[in-house]
Amino acid sequence: MARINDNYLKLAAGYLFPEIGRRTGLFREANPDAEIIRLGIGDVVLPLPESVREAMHRAIDEMGTEAGFRGYGPEQGYGFLREAIAAGDFGERGVEVAADEIFVSDGSKCDSGNIQEIFSSEARVAIPDPVYPVYLDTNVMAGRTGPADERGAYEGIVYLPCTAANGFCPQPPSEPVDFVYLCSPNNPTGSVATREALTEWVAYAKANDAVLLFDAAYEAYITEDHVPHSIYEVPGAREVAIEFRSFSKSAGFTGVRCAYTVVPREIEGRAGDGSRIGLQGLWSRRLSTKFNGASYPVQAGAAAVYTETGKAEVRERVEYYMTNAAIIREGLAAAGLRTYGGVNAPYVWLETPRGMGSWDFFDQLLEQAHVVGTPGAGFGSCGEGYFRLSAFGKREQVEEAIERIRANLAT
Ligand code: MLT
Repeated sequence: MARINDNYLKLAAGYLFPEIGRRTGLFREANPDAEIIRLGIGDVVLPLPESVREAMHRAIDEMGTEAGFRGYGPEQGYGFLREAIAAGDFGERGVEVAADEIFVSDGSKCDSGNIQEIFSSEARVAIPDPVYPVYLDTNVMAGRTGPADERGAYEGIVYLPCTAANGFCPQPPSEPVDFVYLCSPNNPTGSVATREALTEWVAYAKANDAVLLFDAAYEAYITEDHVPHSIYEVPGAREVAIEFRSFSKSAGFTGVRCAYTVVPREIEGRAGDGSRIGLQGLWSRRLSTKFNGASYPVQAGAAAVYTETGKAEVRERVEYYMTNAAIIREGLAAAGLRTYGGVNAPYVWLETPRGMGSWDFFDQLLEQAHVVGTPGAGFGSCGEGYFRLSAFGKREQVEEAIERIRANLAT
């Protein structure tokens, strides 16, 4: 009988969102007439931008001709998209990132989950708590942890508590680690890392020869001018940071799948013999072994995001969701709840009423208000006592959900 990877058995429970889906499914079965509003998983609801659709149609038509047909593409992404990203997301903001430092993929979930493979299985990892579960679970699967304790904390992980006291922003640990996950705008808390905070992280990474894995999947949602859009806005970050970006939440690509990772040529790690090795070559090697690139029509659609029309269409969508975020934030505050986030991020993080456990609050809202959110405890033990509502919903549904929550809390 095939021996399994025992590390999978350490995973505390099912992946968070399927578990929410399971509970919601059970409730729906028992209450088929209930009109459930889902503000749990951050999945977009607005249709794809027209400029994206047109570019994808054109690409498909091209593929239907002798001259325009394309087989396997470059594993790192087509030059036209890498150039458009380098100029549109970085060059125009005065940030140095070259096209050949951009690696196009089929999603940031995969990239932020796969990146740990280029590091040693003995590497020491720092992870914020609460956190997007992918960062933690992939390190558990890779065997970098011992078992979880009764609070769900894995032996061997350096946890970075994010609490109301530190504005839900992780602080550099007092000990050295090999790599650290950071996410700004943050999923799940909606907080953002300031320039000062990122400068501190870059200094920590340099002092400890650590690598920062900076997830900026929600960058498009930044509304305040002082908030950095990229970690490379901080001097020295090119030597220590890898950045993840995604078209999922900005251009509505959750079902289309396209993202990218920036690995600057300066960034290095240490081999077993002590020599310094460029991480860019390792990531590129991994991609060419395990990936055949995102499809041509998808990359053509992603490139359309950088046209003037594409930019305007993305802006419109972001504004729509951010209006939802304001409705959620203000509605819940008016109901007496303490809320965070929702200003530079499409997530509102709220303190559960009367100190309720976050899964208890989940059940209460599902059963009594027929509203699905995400229990904070699902993102880590520091998320206990909190709850996340996603702004990715249709306006009338968001308004209705807030009304129902307010009515529920008033009873
Ligand atoms: C979330 O709800 O946290 C996100 O949608 C998950 C993801 O982007 O994979």
